[in-house]
Amino acid sequence: MGNRLQGKIAIITGGARGIGEAHARLFAAEGAKVAVTDILSAEGKETVAAIKASGGDAIFLQHDVTKEADWARVVADTIKQYGGLTTVVNNAGFANIKGVEEETLEGFNQIVAVCQTGVWLGMKAAMPALKKTGNGAIVNISSLYGIIGTPSMISYHGAKGAVRLMTKSAALEYAKQGVRVNSVHPGIIETPLAMTLAPEYIEAITATTPMGRRGKPIDIATMSLFLCSDEAAFITGSEFVVDGGWGAQ
Ligand SMILES: NC(=O)c1ccc[n+]([C@@H]2O[C@H](COP(=O)([O-])OP(=O)(O)OC[C@H]3O[C@@H](n4cnc5c(N)ncnc54)[C@H](O)[C@@H]3O)[C@@H](O)[C@H]2O)c1
Repeated sequence: MGNRLQGKIAIITGGARGIGEAHARLFAAEGAKVAVTDILSAEGKETVAAIKASGGDAIFLQHDVTKEADWARVVADTIKQYGGLTTVVNNAGFANIKGVEEETLEGFNQIVAVCQTGVWLGMKAAMPALKKTGNGAIVNISSLYGIIGTPSMISYHGAKGAVRLMTKSAALEYAKQGVRVNSVHPGIIETPLAMTLAPEYIEAITATTPMGRRGKPIDIATMSLFLCSDEAAFITGSEFVVDGGWGAQ
């Protein structure tokens, strides 16, 4: 156990598995009290049980990030349980591979609802509590695909690009109000989400990643750990790529 997040109280969305689970485990191991939220309750409870078994402090809260009422309940329950809220990682998301003509309005709206609207709702719901701390931090998990374009992922690129600029807008709005807001942009990371994509698609990205391998969820969690800690006290409105060099090409 470390203490880089001692005294922090964090909500981590999509914390049941993948990158969010890695955040929950690492943040708790570094002293934060963690509300793990997700639509997947069985997996979310398993994440919490693992944290508790390692001596950490966490609760699971059922949460659909697209629902404003869920956000109000999650923030209220976290404050009730732990006495405040200092930190939010807006991580929940999913992807599809659909081109401009292939994508449906329903599919587009679903991606935007989770990946973009969910991030805005999270910032909106948490901001009053974060401002009270005078030392709050939000990390929005975008994607390398929020910075560069690739063919045939129209809705995901749109939503993740929006997260990048919503992050900068919120950072500027709250810069003097004690809340830092930054975005993290993963490349290909081995998670249940990534592994549902077509094997040839995954292999093509892996082969063109300069480091010659996929990242692990912990590679993203360690970046967010830094950004949510007081070590990053002068960092806001910035974007942090964690991608094995892929975006540098
Ligand atoms: N894995 C990658 O290669 C990669 C790359 C770039 C960005 N990302 C981003 O990282 C984040 C985490 O992705 P991951 O790879 O760990 O995926 P994952 O599917 O393994 O985990 C995502 C979690 O989000 C949850 N979730 C989905 N919709 C939700 C909703 N409406 N409300 C609450 N929770 C919801 C899922 O149940 C799941 O537990 C996503 O925002 C994703 O876009 C992933």
